[in-house]
Amino acid sequence: MPENLTTQVERQRQYIAGGTMSLNRAINPSKLFVRAEGAYLYDADGKQYIDYHAGFAPYLFGHGDKEIDDAVIDAIRSGASLIGAGTMPWEAEIAELITGCVPGIEQLQLTSTGSEAVGYALRLARAHTGRDVVVVMQGGYNGCFDYVSYNLMDPASFVEPHRPGEEYPLSVTTAGVPKVIDQIVRAIEYNDLEAAERTLAKGDVAAIILEPILQNIGIVKPLPGYLEGLRALCDKYGTVLIFDEVKTGFRHALGGYQSLSGVTPDLCTFGKAVANGYPMGVVGGKREIMSLCAHPSPAKRVVIAGTYNGHPVNVAAAKACLTRLKTREKEVYGELERLGARLEAGLNEVFAKRNYPTTIVRQGSAFAVYFMDHAPVSWRDVVLNHDAERDINFRRALIEKGVFQFPVITKQGSISLAHTDADIDRTIELAETVVSTLN
Ligand SMILES: Cc1ncc(COP(=O)(O)O)c(C=O)c1O
Repeated sequence: MPENLTTQVERQRQYIAGGTMSLNRAINPSKLFVRAEGAYLYDADGKQYIDYHAGFAPYLFGHGDKEIDDAVIDAIRSGASLIGAGTMPWEAEIAELITGCVPGIEQLQLTSTGSEAVGYALRLARAHTGRDVVVVMQGGYNGCFDYVSYNLMDPASFVEPHRPGEEYPLSVTTAGVPKVIDQIVRAIEYNDLEAAERTLAKGDVAAIILEPILQNIGIVKPLPGYLEGLRALCDKYGTVLIFDEVKTGFRHALGGYQSLSGVTPDLCTFGKAVANGYPMGVVGGKREIMSLCAHPSPAKRVVIAGTYNGHPVNVAAAKACLTRLKTREKEVYGELERLGARLEAGLNEVFAKRNYPTTIVRQGSAFAVYFMDHAPVSWRDVVLNHDAERDINFRRALIEKGVFQFPVITKQGSISLAHTDADIDRTIELAETVVSTLN
């Protein structure tokens, strides 16, 4: 390890609990990144990397986008500040902008993170239904709070005995979740409508929450009819359907993935690309549910509160981001699709020459390479069929060559508008070099 990296890692271990801020950022190989610009990251030795990690996906316009940063600087200099009392004009502006774009949002509240937005969506669903149980997806990620800290990426030994149509046993992903929460969480397989029906038929489920495409485990898409089926089941059993669009959100379409799928959830959450890397979350949905925030009875009122909610800096970033997406919608999503298709085609050519199976799955600018012979439909499918060792070796070898994809299996790659054809072609070239040296 270079000396500056060793020193940094030692300092971190001494003073930072767990060694890194946000424990999901720990990586092997260790890296000390000091700067990011456009489509690139730079480490402490000045080495440049083409970045497809994009800070876990927010950077739709690339790092340090001038237009968005200028809007932020203007907001800071204009006297817009965290007043924290009453209402401020930028609140209505961003709320109108978002509700005008996303079909499933009639009213909303802003938070600082996606996790908070999810926490409030669940609270609203419970208040609306008078029920407590939450259903999560095996392999789905919905942030860091207790109710969704279950069944993340369990090993083959855990998922193998599972049968379609059944609930999973619970597998908690962090210490410290009160045992009592186990009684009000259930986990089922994504793309398994029979399991959804069985669990919802018990009549006690407040909400079913899912990423409409499972993007914590690459790109696992809904089978035809799956989201429609969930919509119908939620209507039948009086359960709130929550789409967690924190990752899919504005990356795939201005109206979220819901606008592409044609399935409108009751509530939905956004984050990440909404503000191109500035910290903002959105929880929104049907007026009937969201208006619980203003219920005249304190017993029925849902409280959403946060010192930094609607912070003018984040709102300025989101306004700049969404205005640009709205005014140049076709151009932006067309370009992301074009870049994505170019990368997909190039990588397919690279892997076509190998004697092992690969499947590239892509939704616009988000992609994943699976070392298996079909596009996965669930985490179970991934863990039982994907060659995890080949995946991690591929990622690490690419990092050494100057292409950064997160070195954890299945993590999605994210292309931004800062990537150029030359970046994509260079990535394909380096992938060719890398795979020819790997078994
Ligand atoms: C689908 C999804 N939901 C929620 C979250 C949590 O968002 P945040 O990290 O901003 O709290 C994430 C973060 O990766 C996510 O991918």
